[in-house]
Amino acid sequence: MNQDALKALVGQAAVKYVEDGMILGLGTGSTVKYMVDALGKRVAEEGLHIIGVATSDRTAKQAESLGITIKELDDVDHIDLTIDGADEIDENFQGIKGGGAAHLWEKIVAINSTKNMWIVDESKMVHHLGQFPLPLEVIPFGSTHVLEKLDKMDLHPEFRMDADGHHVMTDSKNYIIDLHLGRIDHPHELANTLNGIVGVVEHGLFLDTVNTVIVGRSDGPEVLNA
Ligand code: A5P
Repeated sequence: MNQDALKALVGQAAVKYVEDGMILGLGTGSTVKYMVDALGKRVAEEGLHIIGVATSDRTAKQAESLGITIKELDDVDHIDLTIDGADEIDENFQGIKGGGAAHLWEKIVAINSTKNMWIVDESKMVHHLGQFPLPLEVIPFGSTHVLEKLDKMDLHPEFRMDADGHHVMTDSKNYIIDLHLGRIDHPHELANTLNGIVGVVEHGLFLDTVNTVIVGRSDGPEVLNA
């Protein structure tokens, strides 16, 4: 099975956990896209009454096009379950997210959710975090100085640019800096350090966040409880 087929598999497996009446956090990314398709199918076929809170403009657009009701986070009083993708998940269920530049909204939605589920193909499961560059969302104002500071800290920062050489912009109109770390041995310490840098809005370390991971494997989806 190729990677796309594994992503579709976990997307379909995840929506089996959705119950009528739920308020759902909807993540962002190519895996979540399959999940939103499968959710739209359930809404259409079963007439499920669910409300979605999207973690990006693109997920909101896709969900609405499939007839899923979308509300702003500030217009709901809770979220029952958020289903999202991830870029890396280690053996302690700690994760890196933000490969799609959506980790700020994803983290805000995640911390306001009763339960969090991540859906990934098996390539995302790793022994140690850090091979995938760690994304930081940074305020554009003064961001060159933030980059210099991160460089002096040996965190190997690089602005994320698009194909036209422009800064990748998040939905909140901020920039992304990726840290090329190779291996993160102490994720909590690193998270604390990054939280203390003025101008960094949020980093992509999602620590002690997830409750359930569904891993797409060729012989079927594997459900892991953190
Ligand atoms: C979005 O910024 C990310 O956190 C995604 O959830 C993550 O990058 C996984 O995306 P894919 O499912 O496209 O790999």
